[in-house]
Amino acid sequence: MSKVRVLTGITTSGTPHLGNYVGAVRPTVRASRLDNVESFFFLADYHALIKIDDPARIQRSTLEIAATWIACGLDPDKVTFYRQSDIPEIPELTWFLTCVCGKGLLNRAHAYKAMLDKNAAAGAEPDDGVTAGLFMYPVLMAADILMFNAHQVPVGRDQVQHIEMARDMASSFNHLYGEHFTLPEAVIEESVATLPGLDGRKMSKSYDNTIPLFAPREQLKKLIMGIVTDSKAPGEPKSTEGSALFQIYQAFATPEETAALAKAFADGIAWGDAKQVLFERIDREIAPMRATYDELMAHPEKVEAMLRAGAVKARAVATPFTAKVRHAVGLRPLQATSEAKAAKVEKAALPTFKQYREKDGQFYFKLADAKGHVLLQSLGFASPKDAGQAIARLKGEGYAACADLHALAPVASGAAVHDVEAALQALREAD
Ligand code: TRP
Repeated sequence: MSKVRVLTGITTSGTPHLGNYVGAVRPTVRASRLDNVESFFFLADYHALIKIDDPARIQRSTLEIAATWIACGLDPDKVTFYRQSDIPEIPELTWFLTCVCGKGLLNRAHAYKAMLDKNAAAGAEPDDGVTAGLFMYPVLMAADILMFNAHQVPVGRDQVQHIEMARDMASSFNHLYGEHFTLPEAVIEESVATLPGLDGRKMSKSYDNTIPLFAPREQLKKLIMGIVTDSKAPGEPKSTEGSALFQIYQAFATPEETAALAKAFADGIAWGDAKQVLFERIDREIAPMRATYDELMAHPEKVEAMLRAGAVKARAVATPFTAKVRHAVGLRPLQATSEAKAAKVEKAALPTFKQYREKDGQFYFKLADAKGHVLLQSLGFASPKDAGQAIARLKGEGYAACADLHALAPVASGAAVHDVEAALQALREAD
């Protein structure tokens, strides 16, 4: 059974919160345990540099996110778990893709266009505050994906365009240099819950309403007690509809537990008591993982060692693959050039010379390209030998050097002379 290759990256720019856990970490870890998938997960720390210029924060976030994934059950023996910046082949591939990626494609990226709009609204220069890194973001992301020939890339809706761009770059490259890259597909988990935050809006760093996944128990309790509710008094029935507290509970509880809390709402449970129930339920799931997390955070060298081991696994794929790609674009040992080129020409159909005799008794020839389009048409020669010599000269010296052979004229105008030369060149190389 051939396995589906699933790959995703996490930008190392923040501290994981409950929303990340419910929406990404928990479902992804579960999916990675399936037998028919081969998973690649990585810490996108090169991407983080685009947004963050605080070295300590990059380092801290990388540790926190790596420790989170391990603590939540990611098995580094089953999946390939690595840090982007440990794979020097990724920036190398980024360059190859940069050279086949239209600038216009990048101009259309949502994140870049949002900056242009913002600057226009503020009356600033269009590219104000736009680094080349931000502009190139989709190319780096394409390299992440194409390096491992991933079939599926689970991402948030905001990332779908980036996957489409990766497909574009893969197609362009394949067209120019042969079929090297798999065209990836975005997988959007429609069913994945987005968790509300403390204020009821979607839990997100940008709203500053998050609950850190591994906040210490006491802090977790304090944060949960701060979830916004309505002002209904104890004893008054409460609505589950639109209740952030209820929704968060649902993301952790079994259907039976959820039904029980719904009943308690109807029976008028006090908000303080409901929050206590929520806190206990979350803590029950998180506490064992928190212990592992704390242990890993106290021993960054353990996490470092896991990531290094992951990089060795990832590079076992990336190093030979990049060597192939380097070769394909022409970055290769000099003595290898002619062999490889000859092999390519052999595979392709070749242009042909056709000799024939017309009713007028004279001898003619035509040069047709590989598809059979006539590129060159001779005038009549007195003997087949004369015609043959003209062909030999053409092959040997090229069209331009045979200007004295008045009998010749390219058939079509425009690119024809160039096409004739290219065809002659191909024949020379095939000989
Ligand atoms: N851009 C992604 C995000 O912000 C992170 C990322 C980087 C990624 N490289 C990737 C995701 C490759 C999937 C595949 O969420």
